[in-house]
Amino acid sequence: MKRGEKVVLVLMALMVVGVMLRNWWVSDHETDKDRGIPFYTTATPELTRQASELYRQQQCRQCHSLWSVRNMMEAVPAPALDGIGSLRSEEWFYQYFSSPNPQGILPSRLKAEYRMPSYAGLSDDERRTLARYMASLKVQDWYLMETRKAEYEKLTGKEYRP
Ligand code: HEC
Repeated sequence: MKRGEKVVLVLMALMVVGVMLRNWWVSDHETDKDRGIPFYTTATPELTRQASELYRQQQCRQCHSLWSVRNMMEAVPAPALDGIGSLRSEEWFYQYFSSPNPQGILPSRLKAEYRMPSYAGLSDDERRTLARYMASLKVQDWYLMETRKAEYEKLTGKEYRP
């Protein structure tokens, strides 16, 4: 083998090793962008069906976004509900929906007409269904901090500093 040929072979071997190292690094250090949508629900199809019906009837979508859907004509800075079940418990949601004054549980910074309405007028079953569904709205761990930050900033209008 000539000297020039050896050099070419060594360079090719180095390139192959380089590509292998890069692939290993990328697969072990995925970026957030590669991971897809972080939100999911643990609800059964039946619970999803019942809760979606209530959600539509009660027009929650006028103020909240969920699964990236929201009424575009409304500009209420209410927290998004995606992943909310990783931040609060089913019991908390039930108490919140049942309270005649939800702002006693979660203070508001908004004008009265934009605040979370009381759903104490719904039947116990309906409030349970909504609470169970809210609790099923989960977020993957890698996006939990982002979700918490967005919620905090919507609720307080202040920057989140952990
Ligand atoms: C008029 C606008 C409006 C409507 C309609 C509305 N919400 Fe809200 N909601 C808010 C606002 C604003 C907040 C934040 C607290 C506040 O400012 O009162 C909130 C808070 C919440 C929270 C607590 C979020 C958190 O950060 O912990 C949940 C859960 C919730 N709403 C669910 C619902 C559901 C379910 C419905 C329908 C049954 C609904 N909301 C209807 C405006 C609304």
